[in-house]
Amino acid sequence: MAAAERIVFLGPPGAGKGTQADRVAGVLGVVKLATGDILREAVRAGTPLGRKVEGYMKQGVLVPDDVILEVMAQAMEKAGWRFILDGFPRTVAQAEALDRMLSERGLALDGVVFLDVPDEEIVLRLSGRRVCPKCGRAYHLRYDPPKEDNRCDVCGVELVQRPDDREDVIRKRLEVYRAQTEPVLAYYENSGRSPLRVDGVGEVETVTRRILEALGVTVG
Ligand code: AP5
Repeated sequence: MAAAERIVFLGPPGAGKGTQADRVAGVLGVVKLATGDILREAVRAGTPLGRKVEGYMKQGVLVPDDVILEVMAQAMEKAGWRFILDGFPRTVAQAEALDRMLSERGLALDGVVFLDVPDEEIVLRLSGRRVCPKCGRAYHLRYDPPKEDNRCDVCGVELVQRPDDREDVIRKRLEVYRAQTEPVLAYYENSGRSPLRVDGVGEVETVTRRILEALGVTVG
């Protein structure tokens, strides 16, 4: 298996970053660090961080860079700097800061994966998404339903819809993605680390296989 210890997953909201990062992290034996999950947990727990970020998330706009950088520096340290990053970096300033943090430790990214999914499919995916409020596992009413009606397979608790999965907020998140996160793709391209473009449409397992192939990881 090729060295793949520090990977970034990029892609529009709903591209399947969280779904795939869980699966690929399991194969690589690294931790998935998802900014959205960390922030939602802070909101749920009512911490000072949660109170600071809740309004931004509800509107579908980005949380300020300085807040995210502090949170992620701590999370990456805790993970021993071996991870899949899901939802970070999301601005060029965050990508530059990540490069600085890694190079200060003599480290670098092993790969940047871009999950490509068209807008119409994204709206379908996000409007049908339901999540477990306890463990955060995402389901889809049609594509990946839970075994028991509207209950988490793992925790058994009732699934909920994320407040930012309403159609008007989904459109806003796509707009924010185009304006602030797409330039991150160009940032990596221009610094000789062209993102590995993976077709994100298809069965979940098929997409996982495509990602592992793109990373040059052989399993089994
Ligand atoms: P975040 O939680 O990161 O949201 P996102 O990037 O918009 O991504 P999602 O979690 O919506 O989608 P995903 O790509 O993980 O897809 P998933 O696997 O769930 O961020 C939320 C908010 O936090 C932001 O708006 C912002 O306010 C703030 N924030 C976070 N990071 C930040 C940062 N770095 N800087 C500033 N602010 C930040 O899949 C989606 C659905 O599709 C699911 O229902 C799933 O079951 C289904 N699905 C998955 N794969 C497939 C498939 N192959 N076929 C069919 N269905 C599928």
